[in-house]
Amino acid sequence: MESSSEVSPVTPGHVAGLLGHLSRIGIGYLPMPDQAVAAALAATRSLPTESFESTDQRDAASGNIQHRSTAPDAAADEAVRKSSGGPDSGRSRSGAPPVVTGDGAASAIASGIDQPYAGPSLSPADRAARLAEIASRVAGCTTCTELACSRRSTVFGEGDPMAKICFLGEAPGQEEDASGRPFVGRSGELLTKMIEACTLSRSEVYILNVIKCRPPNNRTPDPEEVANCRSYFAEQLQIIRPDYIVCLGLVAARSLLHSDLSVGRLRGRFHRYRDSKVVVTYHPSYLLRTPNVKKEAWFDLQMLMKDYGIDLSQIGSKRPRK
Ligand code: URA
Repeated sequence: MESSSEVSPVTPGHVAGLLGHLSRIGIGYLPMPDQAVAAALAATRSLPTESFESTDQRDAASGNIQHRSTAPDAAADEAVRKSSGGPDSGRSRSGAPPVVTGDGAASAIASGIDQPYAGPSLSPADRAARLAEIASRVAGCTTCTELACSRRSTVFGEGDPMAKICFLGEAPGQEEDASGRPFVGRSGELLTKMIEACTLSRSEVYILNVIKCRPPNNRTPDPEEVANCRSYFAEQLQIIRPDYIVCLGLVAARSLLHSDLSVGRLRGRFHRYRDSKVVVTYHPSYLLRTPNVKKEAWFDLQMLMKDYGIDLSQIGSKRPRK
C-alpha cells in the first residue's frame, strides 16, 4: 500500500472521472478557485495548470463525444476581442460558476465554456453590425460540402441582438431552408406558442440553431458538421451574451454543454454556458410527436421564467397548447 506521505499525481483522467461522478450524483456546479489558488493547488498535486486543453486523449478519458476542433468557443472569444478592440482582460461579467455537466465535464472545461464572455458588452448597433457580418460569412460558407450543395439558403438566426433569452435549436428544416428564417414550420409554430406562453414575443428573444444549413432529409447533423458550425453559434452567443439559453432538444444541449447525457437527465435544472444560465428542454418537434411530455417542457420554461422574475404559475391559461 502507498505510504500516506506519498502524493500520487492527479491526471486529467482522474479529474474527468471525479467531475463526471459529481455530475451524475446531481452536483451541477463547483465553486472555482481563482487562478492563483488553482495554480497552487495544481502544484501540490502535480497537476499542470494548463492540463485542460482539449485533446482527443482527454475527451476519451471523459467518455465524451469527440469534437474535432480544439476550442472553437475560444476562437469566438478571439474573434470578438479582435472586432471589438477589447483587451484580453476586459471580461465583463465574472463570478459565474463553471459548468460541470454530464460525463463531458472535462471537455466542457477544456472548451472554455466555464469562462465568462470575452470582451466588452457591445451596443445594440454594434451587435447588429457584428451579427450581420457573421451572417454574411455563414451565407458563403461551404465547409460542409454536402450541406452547402443541398441547401437553398443558410438560416442564421433572428431576433433582438439585446435579447436576454436565446432559444437554440438543432438545424433548419424544409420551411426554414426555403425561407432563410429559423423555426417557421410546424415546430416553429409550437415554439412561438411556447415563447408567447412565457409572456414574450419572438421579437424580444433571439432564435438560432446549432447548424446553419438544412441536413438532407432532416437527418441529424453529424459531429463534424456541429464542429464546423460551432464557431458561428459561439460567436452569436458571445455577441448577444444572453442571461438565459434554452436548448431545444438533444443536439442543441449536447453541442452547447459538451455533455453526453440525455435531455431527460439534463432538463429540470440550470446549467451554465459562460455567463448564461442554460435550460435544457425537449425540442418542439418532439413535443408535437409526444404531447404527453409537454408538461415537462412547461415546467422547464416556468423554472426559467421564475428565475427571470416572472412567475408563470399565476398565468395558468397561458400554458402552451397544441
Ligand atoms: N428545427 C430546428 O431545430 N430548427 C429550426 O429552425 C426548425 C426546426
